[in-house]
Amino acid sequence: MNEKSAPYISQSKDLNQKIEDLISQMTLEEKVGQMSQLAGHPGLDDRLMNSIRNGEVGSVLNQVGVQDLNELQRVAVEESRLGIPLIFARDVIHGFQTMMPIPLGQAASWNMELIEKGARVSAVEAARDGIHWTFAPMIDLTRDPRWGRIAESPGEDPHLGSEVGRAMIRGFQGKNLSDKDSIAACAKHFAGYGFSEAGRDYAFVNLSDSELYNFVLPAFKEAVKEGVATFMTGFSDINGIPATAHKRLLKSILREEWDFDGFTVSDWDSVVQLITHGFAENEESAAYLSQSAGLDMEMASRSFHFNLCNLVTSGKIPVTSIDQSVQRILKLKFQLGLFQTPYTDPELFPVSGNEDHLRAAEEIAAESLVLLKNDFDKLPLDSDQIQKLAVIGPLADDGFEQMGTWTFDGVEDWCLTPLKSIRKYALDKFELRYSKGLKTSRTKDRTGFIDALSVASWADTVVMFMGEESILSGEAHCRANIDLPGIQHELIEEISKLGKSTVLVIMAGRPLSLTQTLPLTNALLYAWHPGTMGGPAIKDVLFGLKAPSGKLPVSFPKSSGQIPIYYNHRRSGKPASHETFTHIDHIPARAAQTSVGNTSFHLDDGFEPLFPFGFGLGFSKVAYHDIELSGRTITKDGTITVCIELINQGQHMIHEVVQLYIRDNVASSTRPVKELKAFQKIKLNPQESRQVEFTITPDMLGFYNSENNWVVESGDFRVWVGGDSNARQSAKFQYQD
Ligand code: NOJ
Repeated sequence: MNEKSAPYISQSKDLNQKIEDLISQMTLEEKVGQMSQLAGHPGLDDRLMNSIRNGEVGSVLNQVGVQDLNELQRVAVEESRLGIPLIFARDVIHGFQTMMPIPLGQAASWNMELIEKGARVSAVEAARDGIHWTFAPMIDLTRDPRWGRIAESPGEDPHLGSEVGRAMIRGFQGKNLSDKDSIAACAKHFAGYGFSEAGRDYAFVNLSDSELYNFVLPAFKEAVKEGVATFMTGFSDINGIPATAHKRLLKSILREEWDFDGFTVSDWDSVVQLITHGFAENEESAAYLSQSAGLDMEMASRSFHFNLCNLVTSGKIPVTSIDQSVQRILKLKFQLGLFQTPYTDPELFPVSGNEDHLRAAEEIAAESLVLLKNDFDKLPLDSDQIQKLAVIGPLADDGFEQMGTWTFDGVEDWCLTPLKSIRKYALDKFELRYSKGLKTSRTKDRTGFIDALSVASWADTVVMFMGEESILSGEAHCRANIDLPGIQHELIEEISKLGKSTVLVIMAGRPLSLTQTLPLTNALLYAWHPGTMGGPAIKDVLFGLKAPSGKLPVSFPKSSGQIPIYYNHRRSGKPASHETFTHIDHIPARAAQTSVGNTSFHLDDGFEPLFPFGFGLGFSKVAYHDIELSGRTITKDGTITVCIELINQGQHMIHEVVQLYIRDNVASSTRPVKELKAFQKIKLNPQESRQVEFTITPDMLGFYNSENNWVVESGDFRVWVGGDSNARQSAKFQYQD
């Protein structure tokens, strides 16, 4: 049966009419069925098939294998009364079978074209396997590296996060949702989940409106503008109201203010968790509270199935509210072309893991790498100079671990590890020996030290691969202490005593605090979990075949105690400076209170992070000349052009992320010290200089004020342009309404 032959589909050309016609023929039970998403099971589950046959299911998540999906679809299309196709969902977060770097790593590339390409590859591979809908992008802004899900997030900045989200949506959804290789995207988790208290997953969220509007919501608003098909609510509450029953978020903001016309889905069981939150008394009230707050589809739990019909017949929920949800869900099914082409034929798609897909994964992996330290220009390694290279560490040769947190379907066998890639490159160039040193990143077993130290003693250059396995980050995998786990620091310390040239490559799902470890190595390359092609990407950057070009999407704290530390914090009445900061070691005996500076810092860790947002080195230094502005005043309809000249002062190609930050000097609410408003990634050959131009527009100057209204206030502003959030070149300008 297809759209033409389905008896219940009207031949109206108008989509809304078609949907209305269909809804008018549905029973209340069938409508509620469309609003229910059930989990699939390995193989085919009779109970699930029966529910589908009875019209009790609108969507299935986590059922895998195209044959099984086609069979479930056959039951829906041919055996249910109305033949409405199912929409199949899956967490395709940073790859399907070919894994891209974790989203935090992708954000570190600041390369939106590559991020879009990565999402495109993921969409093609997922669609080939029968998936229609991914639960991505996750655009939760977070400032907490203890939170395991920072791995999935685009980091701490609303502008960068919005751009990353938009690029992913473009990639997943393609040109047209109806294209066979497009999948619907889902902006999640709406909203505030990234502020889970103490970085503990599923904890409560205390979030002021100012932070909500100015930091958390922008990426979601941009997702709507980019045409994202769906939204997912979060697990947490915000100031006492669980996100899954948050009327203000789901109705006033999402629908009334932003005009979103897609549908919303809960997170897994988050409707019935309203009971555990102590917000709903029972499943009936959970269904009532979430649906009447604006939730369209329930994931996994079945409170809608068991209660919505009664809630409608008893008059508690108007049927128009149900019809509206069903309208939104059916609309996406039509847009995806599911009524016309309900089944997937993998033969019509390119094979997964093909050369193009692997190349896309390699490109983004290479650009996600952030060079954080490079004393004495240790990197790039010169293969003519090296004679004996030691590769050491638990993460040097572990394809599975380099794939990262959301790797349901990632193919381990396709992964090229750093060891394999460097070994291949070494062949006739230099000798290579490998020692794992530690069985895992977190073991306390030192027996591997002897071998690791003997391999390191033999070598002239040592490259260490340390960090965290993928299981140490991601959903529900939070850490109170973000130091290098286990005894990795000790191993690095022992190796450093040998006096060799050392390079440390960290693979991790979060920023780790590396304050103690940093002095023990000449160079530090941060590789996140780089995905299937992490190995060749890392090898290329280590040996200078590619320029390191990643920049941090999140500040790196010196210690867990500094968290949260982020660059775009509001201005304090007593800001710290290098002049006022007094380190605990320098407090004189019997000091008076006033002798420590009395500004906003920690006595032990100061006021700056270990590495600031936006930071990342290249192999050459870039000099930024003075900023030139096209004018000093900007009006409501005007713009100012910012011009800056950059020079690559070194002998290596540079791939620089030029960042523009703005501060509103005086406003009706205290404003951030600076905020990223634009960036460009540009290539500079050795010694090349280039003019870079940005346009400042009034909307870059506005903010949500204490009444949650968007305002652009007249007055003085400052703009900075540079290679990180500590950019020095700046100029003043004014906005006049
Ligand atoms: C729970 C996670 O919070 C969410 O991000 C994910 O999409 C769903 N489970 C479905 O697997």
